[in-house]
Amino acid sequence: DWTMGAFRQRAIAAIREQVGKARVICGLSGGVDSSVVAVLLHEAIGEQLQCVFVDHGLLRLGEAEQVVRMFRDHYNIPLIHRDASDLFLKELAGVTDPEQKRKTIGRLFIDVFEAEAKKVGDAQFLAQGTLYPDVIESVSFTGGPSVTIKSHHNVGGLPERMHLKLVEPLRELFKDEVRALGRELGMPADMVNRHPFPGPGLAIRIPGDITREKLDLLRQVDAVYLDEIRKSALYDDIWQAFAVLLPVRTVGVMGDGRTYDQACALRAVTSTDGMTADYYPFPHEFLGRVATRIINEVRGINRVTYDITSKPPGTIEWE
Ligand code: XMP
Repeated sequence: DWTMGAFRQRAIAAIREQVGKARVICGLSGGVDSSVVAVLLHEAIGEQLQCVFVDHGLLRLGEAEQVVRMFRDHYNIPLIHRDASDLFLKELAGVTDPEQKRKTIGRLFIDVFEAEAKKVGDAQFLAQGTLYPDVIESVSFTGGPSVTIKSHHNVGGLPERMHLKLVEPLRELFKDEVRALGRELGMPADMVNRHPFPGPGLAIRIPGDITREKLDLLRQVDAVYLDEIRKSALYDDIWQAFAVLLPVRTVGVMGDGRTYDQACALRAVTSTDGMTADYYPFPHEFLGRVATRIINEVRGINRVTYDITSKPPGTIEWE
């Protein structure tokens, strides 16, 4: 019979059978899929698991610390945390084209990950959070020409170069099943129910070039927005919610003075797979409250807009 408990036991047996006594490397991103893979592998093979977390400096407020706290401190999983934000920011300087941002980030990510993975030395396997829709998508892409709307990054040719075999215990699962598996494994709800987050992170939520100052500003806006969403208990009704820092300055009034600061956009969508999406119909008073908080609390922002574009014709991200 097919229950998550039975799946868990079968997956653990299959992992043990596949890897034997070998060491396994698992890349952590802070997202649901790689987190569930890591916890599942830890249960299956314990200390044979070595996690690698490449921090590109494009995560949300406090997220890198959360990853370290959860995996190293809570689960006691061996974790290499490589803060590569300086390198990423340096290479991204002046890059404005969305696809160029993705390519730059993807290339650096593989380089840094590979360098860290090599230090692990005797690893024979690489664990990945590949889901069933990823399997289907990569098959259908071989069928004929398809238009790449946005290239998504992964670890590229790294398994071949490093002679690593893949461990992909989530290959049969859809996203909601991965969440159910995470719950079955006893993972905290706020980790399991976390919204999807793109590999290139906040870089594709800042149209134009990326600087540390802009990233800091966006992180603050995003944190206030998500705090209000959680307080209103709306987080789990939404597929993804995030803020975008607009490359526009507008005039405002604050007290007796005139301001000339940046504008931001808020986005929230419902979806089942990210392929299509509807904008989320927040109550107006919610939007008003968030806008007031952002402008009061985030110095440098004086205008807030809400994106009411669905997908298609829009995409979920702005880039
Ligand atoms: P779009 O913007 O194409 O996004 O409607 C669909 C889903 O994919 C995520 N996304 C990405 N994920 N690398 C990723 O790993 C990317 O380059 C990327 N671009 C978009 C997006 O957050 C949404 O969940």
